[in-house]
Amino acid sequence: MAPDNRIAICPGTFDPVTFGHLDVIARSSKMYDLVIVAVVNLPWRKGSTVFTTEERVGFLEGATRDLGNVTVEPFSTLLVDFARQRSAMAIVKGLRAISDFEYELEMNQLNRRQDPEIESVYLMASAKYSFLSSSGIKELATFGGDIDDLVPAEVSSALKERLSR
Ligand code: PNS
Repeated sequence: MAPDNRIAICPGTFDPVTFGHLDVIARSSKMYDLVIVAVVNLPWRKGSTVFTTEERVGFLEGATRDLGNVTVEPFSTLLVDFARQRSAMAIVKGLRAISDFEYELEMNQLNRRQDPEIESVYLMASAKYSFLSSSGIKELATFGGDIDDLVPAEVSSALKERLSR
């Protein structure tokens, strides 16, 4: 990739990816030459994930196949280190309700402290996804709720198989 290309990172745990994440990724892909979806390999905060890193990466690869300038990679380092290794200029995240703001403000300040050159950019969630979260999806799936219009079909069937009671 040429040095003046604009590369962005869309990071997350994606356990699992939702249409809300995919909306942010697709919108980012119109703003940057290359978008690297960075999948957290070792989440320290939330304990174990329902899906392995390989599964989470696979769901994202399937769901972004039609976006020519989007790639998916796991990472196991500090986010800013990964961004720097990939020569990214920005970290792009979605913001849903006000409740996201406090967490993202903290992450923003931590990340900027590590590397002030990498800017964080926030896209407001599209209204229809503004209350959609991976944890909400998992709760719905556990109790047999309808998630088909909230996650890709492959994710929906994998979740039903793994979580339904
Ligand atoms: O909302 P998520 O999916 O838990 O977000 C994960 C991520 C990596 C975007 C968030 O934890 C973040 O911005 N972390 C910055 C601090 C860092 O680099 N941690 C190490 C990787 S978890």
